Amino acid sequence: MEKQTIDFDADPVASTEYDARARKALPGYEEMHTMALSFLKLHLPETANLLIVGAGTGMELVKLGKSNSQWQLLGVDPSNNMLAIAQQKITQNDLSNRVKLFQGYTHDLPKTPLYDAATCILVMHFLPDDGSKLALLQSIAQRLKSSAAFVLVDMFGEKGSGEFEKTAAIIKIFWEDMGMSSEQINEILERINTMVYPIAESRTIELLQQAGFGNITRFYTGLWIGGWLATII
Ligand SMILES: C[S@@+](CC[C@H](N)C(=O)[O-])C[C@H]1O[C@@H](n2cnc3c(N)ncnc32)[C@H](O)[C@@H]1O
Repeated sequence: MEKQTIDFDADPVASTEYDARARKALPGYEEMHTMALSFLKLHLPETANLLIVGAGTGMELVKLGKSNSQWQLLGVDPSNNMLAIAQQKITQNDLSNRVKLFQGYTHDLPKTPLYDAATCILVMHFLPDDGSKLALLQSIAQRLKSSAAFVLVDMFGEKGSGEFEKTAAIIKIFWEDMGMSSEQINEILERINTMVYPIAESRTIELLQQAGFGNITRFYTGLWIGGWLATII
């Protein structure tokens, strides 16, 4: 069972400012979600059920929910505050009959139904690589049908390596150019230092394979954020 290392409910600002901050801090945030949707459209039938792990304030739920009127989605997240914002968006977009929420962890979900696809976007990097990342991926894989599609997006790289430090230096300039204050930048860097556990891409692929995923392709790179497509094999 994976440990929780970040609590989005501990800081009320984390949820209320999340949408605006994500668009500034994460290079290509909107486009990355659009590319994930393109993959899912290619892979999935008209009628499908999707599991959205770490649904947060509802970006995937609304984007995927609006794109196909026959997809059913379940958003899973431990944070009350994040899910409250997601619920508002679900209601505003008239998606309540097809988009449901579950407060908790993937391992708390029943083992059935099995899903046609899952996403885990910007979540796994909050878990240390002490068995917790693998447990998260396994808890998702166990709830997917054979050949199901999976989208993983995560911060990657090896902290302390020259490559990582170079990317960190670039991203600081990127954030300044995106209009973030030095206070905001320092706050995020502090959070990354203490609460984020990026791993090398080779390790991400190894964990995906150990959890039962194959056909792994990187579809997105936004400086130190990477995105991978995979299917259950
Ligand atoms: C950075 S947000 C990402 C939200 C959304 N996926 C997006 O792309 O904007 C991370 C979310 O993951 C949730 N989370 C943290 N640990 C989790 C876990 N072990 N399982 C599922 N969700 C988790 C947090 O509560 C938070 O809402």
